[in-house]
Amino acid sequence: MDQEQKQHQTTRCAASPSLALVKYWGKQAGGVNLPATTSIAVTLSHLETITEVRLVDSYEKHCVRVAGCLQDSERYSPFFDNLRATLDHDAWFEVDSINSFPTGAGLASSSSAFAALAFGCTRALGRSVPSAQLSRIARVGSGSAARAVYGGFTRLSAGAQQAEQIAPQQHWSDLRVVIAVVDSGPKSISSRSAMSRSAETSIYYRNWIDSSEDLAQRAERAILHRDIEALGSAMRQSYLRMFCTMFTAEPPIVYWLPETVAVIRACERLRHNGIPAWETMDAGPQVKVITTARWSGRVAEALSRETGNGEILVVGAGAGPRLIETGAVT
Ligand code: PMV
Repeated sequence: MDQEQKQHQTTRCAASPSLALVKYWGKQAGGVNLPATTSIAVTLSHLETITEVRLVDSYEKHCVRVAGCLQDSERYSPFFDNLRATLDHDAWFEVDSINSFPTGAGLASSSSAFAALAFGCTRALGRSVPSAQLSRIARVGSGSAARAVYGGFTRLSAGAQQAEQIAPQQHWSDLRVVIAVVDSGPKSISSRSAMSRSAETSIYYRNWIDSSEDLAQRAERAILHRDIEALGSAMRQSYLRMFCTMFTAEPPIVYWLPETVAVIRACERLRHNGIPAWETMDAGPQVKVITTARWSGRVAEALSRETGNGEILVVGAGAGPRLIETGAVT
């Protein structure tokens, strides 16, 4: 069968977001979305981006819609240009994507979106590429997406083209992430703009870069030993140092809301009472709290008291991208 014959007209697939426990924040020169810091992450269960990719025969029909809304093609063109060059295949796609969770609100939707897109486009072309190559393709769309092509626990090293898995999802099956969605609206400033403004203007950016490798190593060791206290303390330093670069950017970037601080305080109280509840945050006001299956109900209850009408989600470590179906073979 030649390449054309193997193409699938339609491919539907799903990918889950990659939650950074130690953050990627800042880019290195010399490539697209090359991370300046090593990040350590967990792919989340239950939350998914579901993406349908259709091969189309012309540039004019090429488009991406998220929840029915046509996306700015410039945002996606580096991804598609690189995809075509990497696979050495001139192809055009019509893409429809939906998220089972709030989009653009700091819940890592770009990680699952570009992981699903990379997976869906390669499958639509009849290619099954190794995860490392899929990770490089997804990274060009969004740095964090390089990690979301794997399930379980992952590392994206500073300067790396691709992420790698450090442990499968079953490695820590009673780990839970309790997510307090304090505001489900889109964020005021995108993570990519916030990242570049922090890098360009914060006097603490250099310290952030210099100190992050140690946090990544501590977090990775803690994951391998399933040590939630050690992971929690590395995680906490990572998000607070990252936010220091945002608070001290010019103009400052403040995603936090009053409910955000109330949830952080609730975590402190839980820990004071001997309950593991270690928070982290991304580019948005939501708070994600790691705990264990035994305590997740108590943690969810405590967090819901602080968030008013905000949604509380309880998830665990999840799998990498999955194929839902492929359509007619040409
Ligand atoms: O992948 P991006 O460009 O959306 O940036 C992700 C940045 C953080 O979510 C804040 C951290 C991370 O490592 O995922």
